[in-house]
Amino acid sequence: MSVTVIIGAQWGDEGKGKVVDLLSEKADIVVRVQGGANAGHTVIVGEEKYIFHLIPSGILHKKVECIIGNGVVLDPVSLLEEISVLKKLGINLNGRLHISNRAHLVMPYHKTLDQLREQHAGNGKIGTTGRGIGPAYMDKAARAGIRVVDLLKPKKLKEKIIANIEFVNKMLNGVYNAPEIEAAQIVKQYLRFDKEMDEYITDTGAYLQQALKDRKKIIMEGAQGALLDLDLGTYPYVTSSNTTAGGAATGSGIGPTKIDHVIGVAKAYTTRVGSGPLPTEFPTELGNKVRDKGGEFGATTGRPRRCGWFDAVVVRYACQMSGVDEVVITKLDILDDLDEIKICSDYRHNGKLLKYFPADLEILSEAKPVYIKLKGWKTDTSGIKHFADLPKNAKSYIKHLEKFTGTPIKIISVGAERTQTIKK
Ligand code: IMP
Repeated sequence: MSVTVIIGAQWGDEGKGKVVDLLSEKADIVVRVQGGANAGHTVIVGEEKYIFHLIPSGILHKKVECIIGNGVVLDPVSLLEEISVLKKLGINLNGRLHISNRAHLVMPYHKTLDQLREQHAGNGKIGTTGRGIGPAYMDKAARAGIRVVDLLKPKKLKEKIIANIEFVNKMLNGVYNAPEIEAAQIVKQYLRFDKEMDEYITDTGAYLQQALKDRKKIIMEGAQGALLDLDLGTYPYVTSSNTTAGGAATGSGIGPTKIDHVIGVAKAYTTRVGSGPLPTEFPTELGNKVRDKGGEFGATTGRPRRCGWFDAVVVRYACQMSGVDEVVITKLDILDDLDEIKICSDYRHNGKLLKYFPADLEILSEAKPVYIKLKGWKTDTSGIKHFADLPKNAKSYIKHLEKFTGTPIKIISVGAERTQTIKK
């Protein structure tokens, strides 16, 4: 298998970091293809916990090269912080980290606009991470964005920043009644990034074309989850990029026909951060219990995540949209104590079964999950290494998930550690 795409099959936070880290062992290159520092991919090795926001989760494998692709919106401050932490840990990045010259930059005013929009949105609040992601992609779509390649031309960079800030100040004044932004400080800060990032900047699309010719093993690491996809997710409660497998092609410069395999990562239950419908949301007490046991707090913002039963309608839809070949189930161990476990197989609306995942969020909010009830396994699974050794009821749960998602499950994670993984 030379090109594998790994995507989240729910609303993000499915545990993609661990899966990418595991599969990177046999990879040559790992590529981040979309999103930005809104992502928080956690990898735990022994006693150490690493959270990556921008740098691909494969970076801990010494031989793996990591690419930040053209589809990413890159916050240089966040990136340089991550680089500095990795260097302090003694991780060599020389010749191993490559940043696309086509990636767009997140500017300080993107964060300001993101936060102001949320503050003024009232009930329409998306619950963004406040990392400037939406406004950065807005500038990209409006053809006003500043790209990594612009860092290499100081005069033009300065002109672009000043022009953009003039426009932003009109918005700050006219729409938000907020203080204006000074261009000089931002110009000075961004003029420095060329030197600090220069050694990593390249045409990563061309680099990947060569890698394909050399038959290198490439992993494309998706961020967020399919239901947060700008086009196919629960709009408007989505992020501003394409989190489904199609985004891997446009976000890296590798054509869709070169992708051999798509893996969807899903938690054994469902979580969501921010606003928007979550049809299988737990009642409060169970929600608190699972949140605490599962450590369901945002890796980027620390916000508590909303939790619910496994929603097979969501994962089925995600698998179809991305052409998922196999699902990885994470955090099975979090359900170990439950007496009864439910799976949502379908939605009912106005008494009728819905045939499709609804585009209309009012319908999704009113939809009633149809549940299959299974007996819990009441056994600690966190030390189990082989599928055959799982309790009977846990095996049955996995088999039901395969049936309702319509996709085979080949890897099951029963803990945060690399070793807590069952390959079926
Ligand atoms: P934004 O990406 O910061 O604009 O946020 C838009 C929506 O996506 C919000 O509901 C966020 O909570 C959600 N979101 C963004 N990044 C992540 C992530 O990495 N995991 C889970 N949810 C995310």
